[in-house]
Amino acid sequence: MRVVSTVNEVRNQVKAWKKEGLSIGFVPTMGYLHEGHASLIKRSVSENDKVVVSIFVNPMQFGPTEDLASYPRDLEADSKLCEEMGAELIFHPEPEEMYDQGFCSFVDMNGLTNALCGLSRPVHFRGVCTVVNKLFNIVTPDKAYFGEKDAQQLAVIKRMVKDLNMDIEIVGCPIIREADGLAKSSRNTYLSDESRKQAVILSKSIFMGKKMIEDGERNAKKVIDAMKDMINSASLTKIDYVEIVDVNTMKSIDEIKGEILCAIAVNVGGEARLIDNFMMKVD
Ligand code: PAF
Repeated sequence: MRVVSTVNEVRNQVKAWKKEGLSIGFVPTMGYLHEGHASLIKRSVSENDKVVVSIFVNPMQFGPTEDLASYPRDLEADSKLCEEMGAELIFHPEPEEMYDQGFCSFVDMNGLTNALCGLSRPVHFRGVCTVVNKLFNIVTPDKAYFGEKDAQQLAVIKRMVKDLNMDIEIVGCPIIREADGLAKSSRNTYLSDESRKQAVILSKSIFMGKKMIEDGERNAKKVIDAMKDMINSASLTKIDYVEIVDVNTMKSIDEIKGEILCAIAVNVGGEARLIDNFMMKVD
């Protein structure tokens, strides 16, 4: 497994691969990789000749009171997982390599980002769009892989690629869950034993909301209220949002129809803000 830290090293390697006519898959991550990331890398390896993984805890997408400093890091374990999954190159830059002195260009978005996580994390998507744009320019992949757990991020990246005419196919991959249903996340490691036990209420509410719609419920408020009641039944949870939106606009809907996203963000035990969701096509 080759681990490089400079833009030039990535460019030279990718250029050499492209000269041989090889296709490039790309999995952008912030590291501390788990089975969710492994599934993205595996998919990318199955669909491309060479796979690049970036591991960069991007300061620009964290707000001033968020967990940038404590975000978990383990390059050795990450390299091992990437190797096992069949990736060939890890790009692991220092923040100075990505944002040198005088950096002042950003990619921003309106609309899709004025909802859900964009409301509680006002600088988040500008940071995500800017870094993903930079990473795309550095790696120049044919395809890039993102998890559906970050459904709003996936929609934002797809829109950015469309709006800015980037010649990259964005592939969304299903949420990977723990045995009890909790969506895999690097932030799950923040949870104490008791919080971890209670965190399962997130996925339980997700499965219940989905079932209500499958059983015919079309009133968004009824589904949201039932999910909120369930989440609030766990003493350590604090809801940030439970929303049902149109997946193409991220705008709240009253009547459940079309392509919908039901998304939740919940603080558990004051230790971790966790997200989960389901997407559905409803006739
Ligand atoms: O989903 C993530 O891990 C990050 O938001 C990403 C896409 C790697 C950008 O920093």
